[in-house]
Amino acid sequence: MVLGSGLGALADSVEDPVGVGFAELSGFPDPGVAGHAGRWIAGRFEGRRILIQAGRYHAYEGWPLQVVQAPVRTAVALGAGVLVLTNAAGSLRASLSPGALVALTGHLDLMGGTPSDLKRCLGGAVPGPYDPDLLELALLSAGRSGVPLATGVYAAVSGPSYETPAEIRMLKGLGADLVGMSTVPEATAARAAAVRCLGLSVVTNWAAGVSPAPPRHEEVLEVGRRSAAALERLLRQIVCALPRR
Ligand code: HPA
Repeated sequence: MVLGSGLGALADSVEDPVGVGFAELSGFPDPGVAGHAGRWIAGRFEGRRILIQAGRYHAYEGWPLQVVQAPVRTAVALGAGVLVLTNAAGSLRASLSPGALVALTGHLDLMGGTPSDLKRCLGGAVPGPYDPDLLELALLSAGRSGVPLATGVYAAVSGPSYETPAEIRMLKGLGADLVGMSTVPEATAARAAAVRCLGLSVVTNWAAGVSPAPPRHEEVLEVGRRSAAALERLLRQIVCALPRR
């Protein structure tokens, strides 16, 4: 489970936790953006074995996509069977106000990414990045836990500056409901490894031009922190409902 900007609190709920800072592992650089702790926490959550990645590498910090994807590849190599990606996102849709939780039905890769395993993807259909069964399970779990969950399409841009209002109008025309700077390279790496993936966004702000106030990083972190309890309730229910392997 990858915890995005301001969403790291869930890591405190892991039982029997063993934590390791990214930078303590050889080959893993220190991520170093405010709000991104850059830690692995292994343990148990709702009785299941979990590996949490609190913080991530972003392309806008200059990391090549191979580095951005490396933690997911590591989790896959360690035996992860399901990948849950969370992120903070700006909203392009009036019905998704800050604080809303959204399960991803698809994405637009505007980061210039390539699949991490070309052999699996070239020449055949690239599989949908978000698993339909996991999506259904998330929506059922939302009903059970009383946490409202919408669905939407996430556009990933490379950043690091937030978009211009004109860019947001363009993204809306392309079919995006949400915008952010992560998740897509990791979802692509998971799919290339045939690992099922669920994407969950926390709306932290209105995208540029949707409201008169421009997005701010502090606002993104603050709204993320305030939504962490609802996200945790939902994730507990989802993890409980995951079929056992
Ligand atoms: N734009 C891009 N990335 C983001 C935003 C946004 O408005 N909010 C959180 N991450």
